[in-house]
Amino acid sequence: MRSCNLKTTIHFEGNALARLAKLEYKKVFIIADPFIVSSGLIKAVTKHLDSAHIEYKVYSDVVPDPTVDKVVSGVTALVREMSPCLIAVGGGSAIDLAKCVRLFAHNHNSDYAPHFIAIPTTSGTGSEVTSFAVITDPKKNIKHALIDDFLLPNEAILDVEMVKSVPASVTADTGLDVLAHALEAYVSTEADYFSDMYAEKATSLCKHYLVRSYNYPKTHENKARDKMHVASCLAGIAFNSVSLGICHSIAHQLGAQFHIPHGRANAIVLPEVIGYNSGISENTFALENPAPCVSKYANMSRRIGLIGYDDIACVKSLAFYIRSMQIEMGMPVSVHEAVPNLTYAEYESKLSAMAEAALLDRCTKTNPRVPSKEDIISILKKIW
Ligand SMILES: NC(=O)c1ccc[n+]([C@@H]2O[C@H](COP(=O)([O-])OP(=O)(O)OC[C@H]3O[C@@H](n4cnc5c(N)ncnc54)[C@H](O)[C@@H]3O)[C@@H](O)[C@H]2O)c1
Ligand SMILES: [Zn+2]
Repeated sequence: MRSCNLKTTIHFEGNALARLAKLEYKKVFIIADPFIVSSGLIKAVTKHLDSAHIEYKVYSDVVPDPTVDKVVSGVTALVREMSPCLIAVGGGSAIDLAKCVRLFAHNHNSDYAPHFIAIPTTSGTGSEVTSFAVITDPKKNIKHALIDDFLLPNEAILDVEMVKSVPASVTADTGLDVLAHALEAYVSTEADYFSDMYAEKATSLCKHYLVRSYNYPKTHENKARDKMHVASCLAGIAFNSVSLGICHSIAHQLGAQFHIPHGRANAIVLPEVIGYNSGISENTFALENPAPCVSKYANMSRRIGLIGYDDIACVKSLAFYIRSMQIEMGMPVSVHEAVPNLTYAEYESKLSAMAEAALLDRCTKTNPRVPSKEDIISILKKIW
């Protein structure tokens, strides 16, 4: 038997943030990205709490790729307040921090389980609907992917007002993260009808709206940002039930070692992983025993309107299309472009440790092809 659970209530379109004025709690603890607070964007959230006379405290000790010590400080602050409701406002970093803070506060006192609402301000991680959280150990340069039902938000609020201020480069990075979630869920060893459906819709929205969203506000395309916000959530639902693959396992290493932003790291790795999983390189014109993921990649390629005369050509189109989107959005396509000060000698000295950590990453378990350490090292060399 298999199960598909969709537990988070999602509020979207229109003035979705108005949901907050209907909360039945008298006191709320908000964990917010510091930019959201300093830019005043937080008022889009707090004005609804004010109108409902709900008391709140805003905590913004959040850093990109939250670390273990930031979780410890957050737990202390939350436990001091013991608010019955916790709201996370920010990108994946703020939401993941809030998830871990809530989990560890609950582990400390099992009676304490605040109602949890996630309000994403980037369109990328889908963290508002997942039981995943990624936490960094800066001493060991490792990113740990935690998976626990208690990390799942009770409610998610998708409001385009919260993503209009996202800079173009962050839109590009986070948008490619959406695509990586959708494609990795689609070829996951656990993929099913439900995850496929969400992944297909998310990928198709990325095809139509990611570059347009990147070009906002030049093009005044509010609509593109709105669609990418939904795409991010759909891809989150897809991977939450069937997990991801080695694109993420490797991207986690690039993030932990060289601080490459999460989505940017995935974008660099994704075309190579499609090649590795499918066994298709530029020079492949026939395959004796194509892996099952070949027809899935090809199917996705056709669904989003790419052209190819057979499955192999469609898979090549998909990988090529991802690279061309990156170039159109001015993104680095290799590690040395992403980290200009890094020397190859330094990179090479970390290959073995990164490959070992990637094999242990929880996302590796559901990759459609079982990788060896040498396979991961070979991918890492190709993306240099
Ligand atoms: N939990 C999950 O399911 C999951 C999935 C994928 C990634 N992640 C994790 O999420 C983190 C990345 O999250 P992210 O890509 O959303 O980036 P992020 O949260 O680190 O934010 C990136 C930058 O954008 C800024 N920002 C956020 N919202 C903004 C807005 N509305 N306007 C202007 N600037 C804004 C932030 O201040 C920050 O500088 C990583 O740690 C990654 O490992 C988690
Ligand atoms: Zn991701």
